Amino acid sequence: MPEIKYHYEGKIPLEMHKVRIVQKLNLVPIERRMEAINEAGNNTFLLKNRDVFLDMLTDSGVNAMSDKQMAAMMEADDSYAGSETFTKLEDKIREIFGKEYFLPAHQGRACENIISQAYVKPGTIVPMNYHFTTSKAHVVLNGGSIEEIVIDEGLNVESSFPFKGNMDIQKLETLINTHGAEKIAYVRVEAGTNLIGGQPISLQNMKDVYQVCKNHNIMVVLDASLLADNLYFIKIREEACKNMSIREITRAISDVSDVIYFSARKLGCARGGGICTNNKEIYLKIRELITLYEGFLTYGGMSVREMEAIAVGLEETMDENMINQGPQFIEYMVGALQEKGVPVVTPAGGLGCHVNAMKFVSHIPQNEYPAGALAAAVYLVSGVRGMERGTISEQRDENGNETFANMELLRLALPRRVFTLSQVNYAIDRIGWLYENRNLIGGLKFVEEPKLLRFFFGRLEAVSDWQEKLVAKFRSDFGDSL
Ligand SMILES: Cc1ncc(COP(=O)(O)O)c(C=O)c1O
Repeated sequence: MPEIKYHYEGKIPLEMHKVRIVQKLNLVPIERRMEAINEAGNNTFLLKNRDVFLDMLTDSGVNAMSDKQMAAMMEADDSYAGSETFTKLEDKIREIFGKEYFLPAHQGRACENIISQAYVKPGTIVPMNYHFTTSKAHVVLNGGSIEEIVIDEGLNVESSFPFKGNMDIQKLETLINTHGAEKIAYVRVEAGTNLIGGQPISLQNMKDVYQVCKNHNIMVVLDASLLADNLYFIKIREEACKNMSIREITRAISDVSDVIYFSARKLGCARGGGICTNNKEIYLKIRELITLYEGFLTYGGMSVREMEAIAVGLEETMDENMINQGPQFIEYMVGALQEKGVPVVTPAGGLGCHVNAMKFVSHIPQNEYPAGALAAAVYLVSGVRGMERGTISEQRDENGNETFANMELLRLALPRRVFTLSQVNYAIDRIGWLYENRNLIGGLKFVEEPKLLRFFFGRLEAVSDWQEKLVAKFRSDFGDSL
């Protein structure tokens, strides 16, 4: 698809859609934001939407839906068993992925629960390019462990390498040879590694992983939740794929995956999920668990309306003009923040703009949670809600010691087709100002710390009066501005 060029401007993203339904936003004054973030235990997950201006927490279940998706929802066929809507979605999965069997589930982690229960046994290992919080938790819950074998460049925060989500093939071979193939439950490939900045994996790397796994008779499971962004990056960054259509790339990826699962809160821009495969044995093994945990095979915990929307959303994902919007906005935001000197993950990935808290607030030690502190500070000065993706998102080890994250990131998600460029510019302005005043930001400490997935419910407080000082500086620089 030819790029749109401008006569006067440089490279700015252009939306290939128009806004037809709007939702009013509130920007409450900084004094209220200060109260709100403390009521939320300095955890952006616990903020109430009424106190949030731009919700950049996640791209999950909050992408804008198209008119065609909304229209399809009206046609949904509601029945416990044998719904036409399910058949429509199953047909779309067959058409796009070429997978015969589709098993519905209510969201991505439900698929992870079921796949882990079916295949992870105590003492087994699941190698993966990089973990995602829920995918790791389910493997561990079933007595397994994970091994991260992303290429070294993947953990290099500032880089120009186009596929930082690639798996290190040598590390994979070594792992298999060291432990034996029978110890490997399956290899999990995450398209668009969430926790290291939405960095893509190349088609060639997926092919190489598959070859190694086939040589050892190991199953390859693709987490396709962030596939849309990854498809776009393969199209524009992978020379060998330049002339392939998005549909052809999707099929080529599917051909090197034994099982594909996805969160349709991300892929398909609706709410749900599912697992697909061509292998009847796998299908039969998983099927029982779907009915046990999710619902009957023709809905899997999803509403039929959402299933209709997913079928249309998957079709729309095959349109380059649709899937380019997120990555282009992210690239714009990353570039503009870099111009202000703000440390960000490069190259720009999918999902959102990732600010490097380790550098932004280099004076905050990791045991005072730099990324969590930065998330609280950004909310305070802007009303923008991001998500901590650092040590708070990790779990303590079995001895209760902190597991320091490889990266301390503040993720500012750009849900697809939701924000306008002026809203993105507002966020850039406030984060730029905060960077100039970064020395005012201090650390956080836990006051309530759940054992499992503590980042969802954990409550923290500031280690000093740094938030009051930041509010005072904001008032002195911005006057009575919101
Ligand atoms: C890569 C990846 N896998 C799995 C999940 C879990 O999906 P869900 O939130 O629908 O349970 C997510 C959600 O953020 C994700 O990003």
